[in-house]
Amino acid sequence: MRIAVFSAKAYDRTFLMRANAAERHSLSFFDARLTVDTAPLANGFDAVCAFVNDCLDAAVLEQLHSSGTRLVALRSAGFNHVDLAAAERLGITVARVPAYSPHAVAEHAVALVLSLNRMTYRAYNRVREGNFALDGLLGFDLYEKTVGVIGTGQIGLIFADIMHGFGCRIVASDPLPNPDAKPFVEYVPLATLYESADIISLHCPLTTETNHLIDAEAIAQMKDGVMIINTGRGRVVDTQAVITGLKSGKIGRLGLDVYEEEEQLFFEDLSHGVINDDQFMRLTTFHNVLITGHQAFFTAEALTNIAETTLANIDAFESGSGTLHRVNAK
Ligand code: NAI
Repeated sequence: MRIAVFSAKAYDRTFLMRANAAERHSLSFFDARLTVDTAPLANGFDAVCAFVNDCLDAAVLEQLHSSGTRLVALRSAGFNHVDLAAAERLGITVARVPAYSPHAVAEHAVALVLSLNRMTYRAYNRVREGNFALDGLLGFDLYEKTVGVIGTGQIGLIFADIMHGFGCRIVASDPLPNPDAKPFVEYVPLATLYESADIISLHCPLTTETNHLIDAEAIAQMKDGVMIINTGRGRVVDTQAVITGLKSGKIGRLGLDVYEEEEQLFFEDLSHGVINDDQFMRLTTFHNVLITGHQAFFTAEALTNIAETTLANIDAFESGSGTLHRVNAK
C-alpha cells in the first residue's frame, strides 16, 4: 500500500523503514503535521500514518476520503484527536497501537516524581556553576507516602507497581477497576484520592469526562503541597487552575509531559523564535514545575513496537487477515 507518513521525524523514518525492511509497503515521509492545509499531501495515498498532534477532525477526514485514503494508521495509543464518527461515516478505518511500551511511560512518570522531589534538575545547574548550597532542594521520603493513580490501565498499573516498590501506599480511581490490579491497589472514590494522596499521577485517556478533570474544584480538595504528574493528555489538566494552585502553594510540585496546547509547541525546535503561549511560559517560571515535551513514550523499545504494530495494522487491513487494532466510534 502507499502510505503518507505525517509528522515524520528522523527517528520515525529510522524505525518505520526498519519495520518495512521487506518493502511490503511504499512509505512517503512528510515533516508536516497533518492539518486541513497539509491534507492535500496525502492525495492518492491509500493510507495515512499519523501521530498524536496530527489533526484528524471531520474536515481533514473528508479531504483524505475524497483523495482516496481508506485507512488511518495511528502511531499512538491515544485516539482523542480523531473524529471517529466522521471516519465511520466516510468508511475510513482507524487503527492504533494499543500498547507499545506501557513501561516507557510509567517509568517516565516515575522519573518526573523523583526529579521533582529532589529537584535534581536544579542541582545539576547549580553544581555546574559551582553552587553547592542545598537550600531549596529539600525533598521528602517517598517511603510510606500515599500515591493516587487516576486511570489504572496498562500504564497506571505499572506506575503503581513501581511506586509500591518505594514503599508507597497506592490509592486509585477508575470507573472500570482493573481485574489485573495487585491487591495493594486500593480503589477509592475520587474525592478520597484527592484528600489522601501526597502524589497524584494521571493515567486516564482524554474523554469528555476527563477533560479538565484537574480543575480548581479538584485542586481545592487536594492536600496542601500535593505533587501532580500528568503523562496522560494535556487537557485532563486545567492549566490556569494549576497556575493558581502553584501561586498559592497548594500545589507543591508539578510534572507535565503533556500540555493543553502542545500541538503548537511540542516536537519542534522553537528555540530561535518567540513562544507566544503566555500560560506555558508562566508555567516554566516556577522552580517546582518540570515539563518534558511529550517524551514519555520515547524509548527504543517503544519506537520499535510502534513501527512494527503500525506496519502489522496496515498488513492486516490490506490482506483482511491478522490482527487489526481497529478503533471504532461508540
Ligand atoms: P489504558 O486504556 O490501558 O488505560 C486507561 C485507563 O483509564 C482505563 O483503565 C480506563 O478505565 C481509565 N479511565 C477512563 N476514564 C477514566 C476516568 N474518568 N477516571 C479515571 N480513569 C479513567 O491506557 P494506557 O495504555 O494505560 O494509557 C493511558 C493514557 O496515557 C492514554 O490514554 C494516553 O492518553 C496516555 N499516553 C501518554 C503517552 C506519553 O508519551 N505521554 C504515551 C502513551 C499513552
